[in-house]
Amino acid sequence: MTTASRPEALRERALAALTAARARTAALTDPVSEPDLTAQHSPLMSPLVWDLAHIGNQEELWLLRNVAGQEFLRPDINSLYDAFEHPRSERPKLPLLGPREARRYAADVRGRVFDLLERTPLEGSGLLDDGFAFGMIAQHEQQHDETMLITHQLRRGAPVLSAPDPDPPLGPPPAAEVLVPGGPFTMGTSAEPWSLDNERPAHTRETAAFWIDTVPVTNAAYEAFITDGGYGERRWWAAEGWDQIRAHEIEAPLFWRREAGQWLRRRFGVTEPVPGDEPVLHVSWYEADAYARWAGRRLPSEEEWEKAARFDPASGRSTRYPWGDDDPTPAHANLGQRHLRPARAGSYPAGASPLGVRQLIGDVWEWTSSDFLPYPGFRAFPYREYSEVFFGPGHKVLRGGSFAVDEVACRGTFRNWDLPVRRQIFSGFRTARDA
Ligand code: AVJ
Ligand code: FE
Repeated sequence: MTTASRPEALRERALAALTAARARTAALTDPVSEPDLTAQHSPLMSPLVWDLAHIGNQEELWLLRNVAGQEFLRPDINSLYDAFEHPRSERPKLPLLGPREARRYAADVRGRVFDLLERTPLEGSGLLDDGFAFGMIAQHEQQHDETMLITHQLRRGAPVLSAPDPDPPLGPPPAAEVLVPGGPFTMGTSAEPWSLDNERPAHTRETAAFWIDTVPVTNAAYEAFITDGGYGERRWWAAEGWDQIRAHEIEAPLFWRREAGQWLRRRFGVTEPVPGDEPVLHVSWYEADAYARWAGRRLPSEEEWEKAARFDPASGRSTRYPWGDDDPTPAHANLGQRHLRPARAGSYPAGASPLGVRQLIGDVWEWTSSDFLPYPGFRAFPYREYSEVFFGPGHKVLRGGSFAVDEVACRGTFRNWDLPVRRQIFSGFRTARDA
C-alpha cells in the first residue's frame, strides 16, 4: 500500500470485515426459531439472543461512545450485556431484549458505525490508529460467532445449519514429525495493525531443538488411546484431569457415543460414525495431555507452537502465517465456517510451514502445554478485561484457530485460552517431543 492510499485501504478493510461478521451473525441466528434464540441450550453458554445484543453493545461502547463520544442509545441495557456482571448460567433470567429488538438494536448501532467510519481519520495514536477499534470490533463479533456456533453444536434437535464438506487437496503424505532447530526466533508482533494486546510486543525467545507432529492427532489415533484403556489408567492423567473424568464418567471426546461396537458422534444435530482420518475435536486440555503422555510424547509449549508456525529457517524471520505473509485463502486453511468440520489430517499442503508442518492454521484449535501469561512488555489495551484478568495458571493457551474462526481473528500470533476442563470448544491438539 502506498502512503496516500493507506487510510482508504484500511477503511475498506474495516467495512468489509464488519460486513462479513454481520452476515455470519445473521446466518447463525436467522434460521433459528424465536424460542430457540431465547432458550439456554447449555449452562456453559448464553442464549443466542444475548450474544446478538452483546455484539451490538460492545460495538456501541467502543466505537460510538469511546471513539466518537456519542451518548448511549440504550443506557438501560448496558449492564445486561456486560459479560463480567452476569455469568453465562444466569443470563437467561435477565430481562434481555427479545430477538426482534436485539436485531434492531445491533442494526441501529451498525448504521451509526458506518457513518462514523466514513468520516473518521484512521490515523493518529490509540484506538483509531490503523483502524484498530474497527478491527477489534469485527474480531469481537467473529469470536462471538464462533461462540454461537458452539451453542449450535450443544443444542439438541433437528439441524438448522448446513455447509459443504471440506474437500481440499491432500498432497503427498508428510513425514509424521519434523525437527525444529534450536535457537532464537521472534515471537509475538509489534507490526500487525489489528493484533490484540496479548499478542504484543514482538520479542526474542530461545527454544531447544524439538520434534513436532506434521498434522493434528486424528480420531483414529485417539481411538487407539481409548481402546488401550487410556481413560482407566491413572498414570497418564494430571491429578485434576483424573478427578474430572472420574466425577463425570468421561471416557471419550465430548459428543462421542459407543453403539454396536462403533464410535458415533453428534455434529450439529447429525449423528455419524467418527471419521478416523479427521483431527480429533472436543477434547479437554487434560485429555490432550493424557493422550500425549500415553503416546510417549508431550504437548508443544506455546513458544514451540509459534516457532513451528512462523519461523523460517532460511531467512531467520518469523512470518505472519506458516505459508508466508499473504492473507489466508481457501487453499491454505479451513477457516471461516465454510465447512462445519475439520478437514482430513494432512490436508492443505499449500498451507504448510517451511519445515512441512500442516494445518497449524484452521481446522482445530490446538492445546499447548502453556499457561496464558503476558509477554515481556505487555500493556493492556484497550481494556484489562480482554486479556489481563485471565492471565495466570488457571487458563491454558490454544493456538491456530478452528474451522469456526474467521481470518480477521486468525494470525500466527493469535492467542486463545480456556480452562483445562473445557471440551465444548472446537479443540484438538498435536504432540511434540524433545530432540
Ligand atoms: C478470547 C475466545 C476467550 O470468548 O471469552 C469475546 C473472546 N472476549 N468477548 C471469549 C471475547 C470478549 C474470548 N476468548
Ligand atoms: Fe464479548
